[in-house]
Amino acid sequence: MQDNGIHWRCTQKRSNANDCFSDWADVKAVVTQTSLTFVDLASIPKNVMLYTDEHEWSSWSKIGDSVLHIELRRWADIMVIAPLSANTLAKIAGGLCDNLLTSIVRAWDYEKPIFVAPSMNAYMWRNSFTEKHIMAIDEFGINLIPPVSHGESGTGAMAEPSFILSTVRMFLESRRKASTSSSRT
Ligand SMILES: Cc1cc2nc3c(=O)[nH]c(=O)nc-3n(C[C@H](O)[C@H](O)[C@H](O)COP(=O)(O)O)c2cc1C
Repeated sequence: MQDNGIHWRCTQKRSNANDCFSDWADVKAVVTQTSLTFVDLASIPKNVMLYTDEHEWSSWSKIGDSVLHIELRRWADIMVIAPLSANTLAKIAGGLCDNLLTSIVRAWDYEKPIFVAPSMNAYMWRNSFTEKHIMAIDEFGINLIPPVSHGESGTGAMAEPSFILSTVRMFLESRRKASTSSSRT
């Protein structure tokens, strides 16, 4: 099977096109207002629709109109948040939903996988808030792709995009195999 819809928050670390989810699936990207500062919009593949908080409101004018975060949570088979900031992690753990990204997560159907790949300063990663928030999202069934070492400063850098992609693909493959073998028995 192909074409799993994936949402992801844009990553600064997409240096290699082969690492790109859009080579493998239909992708819609959601960016937070702050992450727009870091994203090179020209690096987003042409076939990837990019959504900001403005789209949430510009696509709605009256009761009865479709609501973007609900449409996107319905459309996607998988959600990948990469990089996940400490702020968005805290918001998800606490159930806050004050932008498009966190509204999709808050409305998410947890039968469908979500992966998060945190990226933050090593002090932030070691902070006890982070531990609490990671435990909270683990309880919801959100899959963590752990950060890696920044070098001397410690752990906190986002995992390599190729590793994120292979983790997600392996997860889906093993789930498909499990469902195929259970449907045979
Ligand atoms: C230069 C700069 C780099 C930052 N890098 C990170 C980062 O890697 N991880 C992180 O969690 N926050 C980082 N921050 C702080 C976030 O930008 C801030 O918490 C912001 O509110 C996150 O917004 P968002 O979660 O809506 O994307 C950085 C801030 C600045 C000024």
